[in-house]
Amino acid sequence: MGFYSDVVVPRLVTCACGTKPILKQRQKVVPLARGAVLEIGMGAGHNLPYYDTDSVSSLVGIDPCRTSWRLAQPRAAALGVPLEFVEGSAESIPLADARFDTVLMTYSLCTIPDAEAALEEIRRVLKPGGQLVFCEHGEAPDASVARWQKRINPTWRRLLGGCNLNRPIVDLIRNARFEVGQFDQMYLPGTPRIAGYNVWGTAQR
Ligand SMILES: C[S@@+](CC[C@H](N)C(=O)[O-])C[C@H]1O[C@@H](n2cnc3c(N)ncnc32)[C@H](O)[C@@H]1O
Repeated sequence: MGFYSDVVVPRLVTCACGTKPILKQRQKVVPLARGAVLEIGMGAGHNLPYYDTDSVSSLVGIDPCRTSWRLAQPRAAALGVPLEFVEGSAESIPLADARFDTVLMTYSLCTIPDAEAALEEIRRVLKPGGQLVFCEHGEAPDASVARWQKRINPTWRRLLGGCNLNRPIVDLIRNARFEVGQFDQMYLPGTPRIAGYNVWGTAQR
């Protein structure tokens, strides 16, 4: 798929990730990041303007897509904390155990091929008591929406760089032995329900 996956998909996803309802979601979760922070699947850096830079000491972003990192440059340049980009996959994070106070993950667990392996790695790099802050779209609680998600998912995944509509986000996080705290959920306004069911909150290692 070369050109489509390397050039078209990152730009398509960047547009989708910059819509007003999604930017509102970022405002709710990104300021919760504290201390040494790792961002999973940083993409084009849409979260960067929302960090509370007084509370963040350092930031590492990991993503396998170098095109996205290039798209992130203007936002990265405006950030007030040291930022390191690691070209790599969440399933095999090339960083030391227990290094981070916070791992931030927004709209990435849908796309990471092996979500379970990624969550194990996130656990490993978090300090004991460290927090996973998440905001993801996923499997809807309404049976009719979930049926459509399942039907459309194979085509959706093929066209949108591996994004899955129907991952059971909170179950995946709990199954990775995180203690999920309070979390919120809703269908984002102005977004088709199959892609708009969002869940966000924090989980402790
Ligand atoms: C829908 S985009 C979201 C980007 C960003 N997290 C945001 O909130 O705007 C999904 C991101 O996950 C990244 N991704 C795909 N596979 C990955 C993997 N195995 N490990 C880490 N990130 C991955 C993609 O390159 C892409 O940047």
